[in-house]
Amino acid sequence: MEYIFSDRMKDMQGSAIREIFKAAADPQTISLAGGNPAPETFPNKELAGIAKRLLEEQPVLALQYGVTEGYPKLREAIRARLAEKEGIGTDADDLIVVSGGQQGIELTAKCLLNEGDTIIVEEPSFIGALNAFRSFGARLAGVPMQSDGMDMDALRRVIAGHKNVKAIYTIPTHQNPSGITMSAEKRRELYGIAKQAGIVILEDNPYGELTFHGEKLPTVKSLDDGSTVVYCGSFSKVLAPGLRVGFCIGPKEIIAKDIIAKQISDVHTPMLPQLLAYEYMTGFDMDANIRKSAALYAHKCDYMIECIERFFPAQVTHTTPNGGLFIWCDMGPGYDAMEVSRICAAEKVVFVPGNTFMVDMNAPCSAFRLNYSTMSDQKIKQGIRILGDTLKKIMGR
Ligand SMILES: Cc1ncc(COP(=O)(O)O)c(C=O)c1O
Repeated sequence: MEYIFSDRMKDMQGSAIREIFKAAADPQTISLAGGNPAPETFPNKELAGIAKRLLEEQPVLALQYGVTEGYPKLREAIRARLAEKEGIGTDADDLIVVSGGQQGIELTAKCLLNEGDTIIVEEPSFIGALNAFRSFGARLAGVPMQSDGMDMDALRRVIAGHKNVKAIYTIPTHQNPSGITMSAEKRRELYGIAKQAGIVILEDNPYGELTFHGEKLPTVKSLDDGSTVVYCGSFSKVLAPGLRVGFCIGPKEIIAKDIIAKQISDVHTPMLPQLLAYEYMTGFDMDANIRKSAALYAHKCDYMIECIERFFPAQVTHTTPNGGLFIWCDMGPGYDAMEVSRICAAEKVVFVPGNTFMVDMNAPCSAFRLNYSTMSDQKIKQGIRILGDTLKKIMGR
């Protein structure tokens, strides 16, 4: 039977880099392509104790249906944490618990974007969000990244040059895939531009708590009067991604629509993971665990950069992240990272070519993303050395 799929799904690609992930499944292959947090950061013993107690003592709470907006105590605890740590939240804001930050992005996009509307995105940007926007038939307008975040002049030009710009999607802190953090000045500028133009900012911040160098900058949401910014956060990188617990805080009217959209999608985020997140964040030292995770990533990031500087051809540039999980490398004009990634996969090292993160995924791109969070030092060194040797052969130096 020939299936005729909806317009919204027919051109969606599962993963343009399926071949790479196939290669990554080979145990001989060193994968610098993933984005998983390090499993040793999971507080599994504490979570096991909490789960046992919950299922024995509060089985109905843990196993019965819950309310769509999320477990009330968890919502309160997240709001308190956001207020204390980030200065986020006004009376005009509301908060919904979602099944991972990905769902927060998708639901908010669903509520804001009509087919043909424009959403402005950083280029490069997180593919999960780009695909969510694409699935609603939105036009993606890219704004190039600079070393201190979005190019603000380009942002102004894109706003002036597009109709129906509904939202600006940004990952200002330790961006996936570039590792770039937007400067405090640009955060204020971005907020001012969006507010004046009446455009919603969708701020995605799953890595903010994993800052390991430099000062922590104010979130864009902390500048908001409750009118302009929807902020998506997640427990995926600070607790465990398999729990699928995230949250969105934003203008009450938008969150009210997110709640209706979530009712249609999955009714509510499962209670057991919500309870685990709540009990862990209120009963244990989550900050200490986050500090430990950040220290681990600091070491891995610094070590990968040391190896890059030792083994890569000098003309390959790289970012120097202050946190998060990714480094962005660029071979410079004339090189196609997709092609290079195939050659490197044959040498048993995989990474993600940069075109994957672009508005036009088919245009050649000379940049690629490296991840350092799960590999041992030895594998990082081995992988970067192989990559460096291969790049030297390809680039002729
Ligand atoms: C920038 C960014 N946003 C959102 C997500 C989604 O994370 P989750 O749905 O696990 O919270 C990710 C995951 O890697 C990400 O990198």
